[in-house]
Amino acid sequence: MSTAAEPAGPAALSTPREPRLILLHALASGLDLERYFGWRRHRDGDPFLVRFPGFGSAVFTGTPAGAREMFRAPVELLEPPLPNPIEPMVGPASLILARDMRHKRERALLAPAFHRNRISAYGKVIRDAARAELDGERTGTPWRPGRRVDAREAARAITLRVILAAVFGIDEPRRLAEYTTVTTEFLNSFGGLLFLIPALRRNMFGLSGWERFTEARNRLDELIDTEIARRRADGGGGEAVVCKDMLALMLSTRYDDGTAINDTDLREQLRTLLVAGHETTATSLVWALYRLHREPGTLARLRTELAEAGTDLDPAELAKLPYLDAVCQETLRLHPPVPIVLRRLTGDFTLRGVPMVAGDTMGVSVHLLHSDPEVWSEPQRFRPERFLERRYSPFEFAPFGGGHRRCIGATLADYELRIVLATMIGAVRLRLSPRFARGRMPLTVPHNIATGPHAAITFDVLEP
Ligand code: HEM
Repeated sequence: MSTAAEPAGPAALSTPREPRLILLHALASGLDLERYFGWRRHRDGDPFLVRFPGFGSAVFTGTPAGAREMFRAPVELLEPPLPNPIEPMVGPASLILARDMRHKRERALLAPAFHRNRISAYGKVIRDAARAELDGERTGTPWRPGRRVDAREAARAITLRVILAAVFGIDEPRRLAEYTTVTTEFLNSFGGLLFLIPALRRNMFGLSGWERFTEARNRLDELIDTEIARRRADGGGGEAVVCKDMLALMLSTRYDDGTAINDTDLREQLRTLLVAGHETTATSLVWALYRLHREPGTLARLRTELAEAGTDLDPAELAKLPYLDAVCQETLRLHPPVPIVLRRLTGDFTLRGVPMVAGDTMGVSVHLLHSDPEVWSEPQRFRPERFLERRYSPFEFAPFGGGHRRCIGATLADYELRIVLATMIGAVRLRLSPRFARGRMPLTVPHNIATGPHAAITFDVLEP
């Protein structure tokens, strides 16, 4: 079968059912991807074919058997699908878009910075970032009783601070403020239609969204280039205040042939980390807070665990608390920030009995996988206990994707989620604002690379 934008070839005879009324399907998937995928699987079975106007089409599976096939497919048959809507943000050299030997090479260069032993050194940075937000460093108003807070704004501020500290070692207030402004402008300038419709990416006498985006990207690149030049002049390293940061590690690591990464590629990898490591974790934090405050029993159990552990627990120990861990996993199960994981084929492959050829794209729907009734009892219920009762395989629970492209930041994200959540829950009592406390769950919509709640979820700070 052919899943690219061009007409299907002869092998298309064995494709799953083709959706007709493509624009209606595109609209339905754009409005509520989760529901649309659920409906498609119910109607067409697993796997099923989805067309994305402008980006081609893909055969999706949402079962552990399908995920196993895709994540275990021979690496030489797989590449990331192109065009990719986030390419303008991350750049063509990005790890996310790299293929074959180049992917292997870049991944090996970045991997030491994400090693578990290094990540544990960021515990204090993460806790300080959460405390700074609670103290009102960004807004000027601490989280005191009577205040209403926007969880998404707060979560984004915390995760941005963490990523800036972890990647660039920035925590001096003036530089932090400069990087925060420039990075936020960059991230906010590429969304909505610009993300989805490549035809809009053009100049119009300085007035288009595309020009605003490229200007913001240039400002960010200037900051990154200055920092790279400063580090190289210092001899490549540079110690962050708390620990050696990721940039220092990338500068000191060498490819197998002994050469170092060049400035352009390094700049794009750094932009990739800012893009991939910020909104994803922020969204998960918001959903975790939302779910906990809709389930008083769950929140109470977490509070008890945290109280018994003590407030001064070392962040690394905190991150190991079993119920906290289960809450974070259950949040990622029900609200995976990256809802689809895609691979483009460079040769013949069969996914769940569907023969595919070079150029075809296949994908795992993480929502479907995480709600498969064969694996998950009461799949729609938020019940962290399930993660204490049994272990799930990487083909049943895959919020970070799988195989050779599994999220390189997974350990950092897991660690950050646990420490920030514990710091917040341990420090303040919150109540969901009336609009969110009852009624329907907010819809999940795309925010750049991740998806998240469509509305700004707010909380009221209560007396302790
Ligand atoms: C809750 C937070 C996060 C989630 C749910 C998440 C999820 C994902 C997923 C699903 C993928 C695709 C994996 C695949 O294709 O199999 C991915 C890739 C990636 N993520 Fe994450 N991510 C998160 C946080 C982070 C962080 C904190 C960083 C870095 C600071 C990061 C950096 C990356 C990079 C560079 C890739 C591309 C890996 C490759 O192609 O080799 N992510 N992530």
